[in-house]
Amino acid sequence: MTQPNENITLPQLERTPQRHFYTGSDMSRALSIGDLRARAHKLMPRFVLEYLEGGAEDEASLARERQCYAEWRFIPRQLVDVSRRSLETEILGKPAAMPLAIAPTGLNALFMHQADSALAQAAVGTGVPYIQSTMSNDTMEEVAIAAPGVRHWWQLYVLGGDEIWQELLRRADACGCEALVLTTNSQIFGDREWSSRDRIGGGWPDASSMMDAASHPRWFAGSMAHGMPTFANVIDFVPEGKRGFFESANWIRSQMPKSLSWNHVAKIRDRWKKPFLLKGLLHPDDIRKAIDSGVDGVILGTHGGRQEDWSVAALDVLPEAAEIVRGRIALMMSGGIRRGTDMLKAMALGADAVIAGRAPLYGLCAAGAEGAARALEILHDEATNDMGQMGVARLSDLTPEMMVSISRVAYPGGRRGSAMG
Ligand SMILES: Cc1cc2nc3c(=O)[nH]c(=O)nc-3n(C[C@H](O)[C@H](O)[C@H](O)COP(=O)(O)O)c2cc1C
Repeated sequence: MTQPNENITLPQLERTPQRHFYTGSDMSRALSIGDLRARAHKLMPRFVLEYLEGGAEDEASLARERQCYAEWRFIPRQLVDVSRRSLETEILGKPAAMPLAIAPTGLNALFMHQADSALAQAAVGTGVPYIQSTMSNDTMEEVAIAAPGVRHWWQLYVLGGDEIWQELLRRADACGCEALVLTTNSQIFGDREWSSRDRIGGGWPDASSMMDAASHPRWFAGSMAHGMPTFANVIDFVPEGKRGFFESANWIRSQMPKSLSWNHVAKIRDRWKKPFLLKGLLHPDDIRKAIDSGVDGVILGTHGGRQEDWSVAALDVLPEAAEIVRGRIALMMSGGIRRGTDMLKAMALGADAVIAGRAPLYGLCAAGAEGAARALEILHDEATNDMGQMGVARLSDLTPEMMVSISRVAYPGGRRGSAMG
C-alpha cells in the first residue's frame, strides 16, 4: 500500500514526521479517498485488490490515468465573491448534485454481497446517477427496488446474438433505467497479468491467494460467505452446465463479438429511445463518428487503464474533444478521479461530467453503502472548497483559461494548453 510519505518529495519533510492514513471504521474520520483506499487495502485480500486496482500489461495506461492530472495546474482568480458556491448541474438534462456519476464496475460481489445495490443507494443519497454494469451481480430489477429514486443507467456489453442485448434493453427500460451506456473498448480483454499470476487454470485463486483470503475473515463474511457470485443479469443466456462462476465468466467473455462496430451502434440507437452514450472512446475521429451516429453523449476513457496499454488518458484528449463536440452532445470522461480538483480540471477542460470507478469502490470496500457515500461526499466537499480557493462560484466559471499545462507551458492568451496538438 502506498505510504503517504512516499509521495511527498518536498525536501523540508524528509520523511518525518511519519504520516499515516486513517484506516478505522468511523467514516466521518476518513478525510480523503486515500483514507478509504487505505482501509480497503487493510480489509480486502490480495487477489481482490489486484482485481480492483490492476491495469493491463505494463500498466502504462493505468499510470497515465493519474499522471495526466499532475500536468495541469490552476491559475486561480482572486477578489471574487465565493460566499455561495455550487457544484449543482444537469447531467443529461436532469439535475445532479455534482457533475459526477458512479461508473459501471462488474463483479462488485467480490467486494461485498449486494454491492451493486449499495452503490446505487450511495448514489441516491448523494444525488448523482449510478451506472450498472452488464457484469454486475445484483439484477437491475433488484437494484431499482433497493434504491428507489436512483438515476439508474444501464451499461451494455454486447455479447452473443442480437436477442441478448435486445432483451437487456427491454428489461432496462421496464425497470426505469433512464440512459444506456455502450462500452466500446472491451470486446478483447486487456491482459491483466498481475491478476492472472494470482490464479491457476480456470480462474481459481492459487494456494497462496487462498491462504491470504483465509486471513481476511471480515471480507469473507461480507462477500463469499453468501455464496459464489453470479452474473445475475445475463446468467439465463449462459448454457446450462456452464453457469458456475468461472465457467460463466469464460463463456460470456467468449461471446463478446470482436466485430462490434458502428452497425451495432446504429441498431441499438434504433431500438433505445432514451439517452444513449458510448463509453471508452479516445480518438477524435471516433468522437466525430459518434456525433454522426446520433448518440446523446460520449464517455472518454481507458477503462481505468485496464484495457489497451500505453494509450493516452481521457484528460489528454479532452480539450480537443470539447472543440469537436462543441456542446452538441454530452461530453463525459472517466479515469483517475480521486480528488475534487480532478473533477474541476475535467470540467475546466470541457467535460460536462466525470464518472468515477475506483473512488466509490474504495468506499464500498471500506464500509459498504456508507463508505461509498462517504467517497462521493469527500469528492463533493473537496471540489466545493477548491472552487472557493480558485475564485469560482459556479461550474460555468471554470474555463480553459484558468488552466495551464505544465508539460506544454501554454499560458492563457497564448496558444491553449493541450497535450495533443
Ligand atoms: C473493478 C473494476 C471493474 C470495472 N468493470 C467495468 C464494467 O463492467 N464495464 C465498464 O464499462 N467499465 C468497467 N470498469 C471501468 C470503469 O467503468 C471506469 O471507466 C474506470 O474505473 C474509471 O477509472 P477510475 O477507476 O480511475 O475512476 C471497471 C473498472 C474497475 C476498477
